[in-house]
Amino acid sequence: MARPRTPRTAPAPEGPARTGPVNVLLIGAGGREHAIGWKLKQAKRCGKLHFAPGNGGTRELGVNVDLPFEPVNTKHADAIDHYCRDHGIGLVVIGPEDPLCAGLADRLAAPGRAVFGPVAEAARLEGDKAWAKELMRGALIPTADSKTFTRAEPALAWAEARETPVVVKAAGLARGKGVMVTDSPEEAVAAVDQLMNRRAFGEAGETVIIEERLSGQEVSVLALVDGQNIRVLDPAQDHKAVGEGDTGPNTGGMGAYCPTPVIDEKTLRTVEREVLVRAVDALRRGGVTFRGVLYAGMMLTAGGPKTLEFNTRFGDPETQPLMMRLKGDLLELMLATCGGRLDEVDLDWDPRVCVGVVVCAGGYPGDYRKGDPIGGIDDAEEDPDVKVFHAGTKIDRDGLLVTAGGRVLCVCALAGDLK
Ligand code: AMP
Ligand code: GLY
Repeated sequence: MARPRTPRTAPAPEGPARTGPVNVLLIGAGGREHAIGWKLKQAKRCGKLHFAPGNGGTRELGVNVDLPFEPVNTKHADAIDHYCRDHGIGLVVIGPEDPLCAGLADRLAAPGRAVFGPVAEAARLEGDKAWAKELMRGALIPTADSKTFTRAEPALAWAEARETPVVVKAAGLARGKGVMVTDSPEEAVAAVDQLMNRRAFGEAGETVIIEERLSGQEVSVLALVDGQNIRVLDPAQDHKAVGEGDTGPNTGGMGAYCPTPVIDEKTLRTVEREVLVRAVDALRRGGVTFRGVLYAGMMLTAGGPKTLEFNTRFGDPETQPLMMRLKGDLLELMLATCGGRLDEVDLDWDPRVCVGVVVCAGGYPGDYRKGDPIGGIDDAEEDPDVKVFHAGTKIDRDGLLVTAGGRVLCVCALAGDLK
């Protein structure tokens, strides 16, 4: 009897010409997009840079355009597609997770245009934590033991009966805030109630995962994946708590540094083999080709590295220190990722360490004020090893740089050692 065929990697789409300038459209408004744009601008073949919507920093690198994409619908995708045609865009880079999970990469695929970021079926690794858990179990990827619930009563009963601490997670996208680390059954029950009954994160909490609470150092292992080849980037560590000394509520990320000594080379290779390769292979067995950034959020436990989550994009703020240290041509790296040619390009790093510290608006991650003037960036950047990436900033009607979001700036500096 014929054996069932293993699905193969889908052929890489034909991107822009291999010579001549490439115009780029970057989707997103954060520090991550400013950092990617800054690095792309240094690329040999970088043509004109367009940012949708960009921020106060990106406008110095190119043009900011108002192309709505939240949430992505057919009209939005068509408008972006038209914009790309009108402006000869050869590469679209999709920064945030929401448009990826909504299928923007699928919809923007066109001859002569590379789209950096996975298709929706692959971005599901980030957008549906319950599905990702299933995939991890099936592929023997080390992760915390967990149980998934689609109804509140059994979830509440399970949470109440736990004798060791658990973490309660909304399965859907919640801007990094749908994870509740609890200390007691009472807290776990309250977390389930918040997510499932009160719908604190809307539909994202329709399905909830309750998993064992692990302990250990956390590390972000990001890799470029071209469908076939995996190139692991230098490991980074981000810090999520808003306050000094890791106190206060979790945020999207208050700072990051790279490389991090918390993970050694051997453990990094274990993560590559047992987490990244297995995830990409499991997707492929399901007929899905992953192209873009695969980001494994790892915890280094006494029982070995365990996967907390997958993201299917560059991290924010990890990207800011990563871009500061990346040597070589980001445009060619991205085109090689889209084109299935990652084995042909160099990936080198500045040996120095980079630390990025996020400056946020008072009150963040709760309510915060907008419109406050920002100063001092030029002074900081007089040091050639310092770069200030913008996130929630804009130019107001008087031409002043003002705050426009919770995370405002990410101040990055390179030095010989971490201290
Ligand atoms: P996630 O978005 O799933 O990475 O979760 C956000 C944060 O919650 C992580 O960075 C960890 O600090 C924490 N976390 C998630 N899962 C666990 C777990 N199983 N044990 C302990 N902490 C966790
Ligand atoms: N820094 C964490 C994230 O980008 O999800």
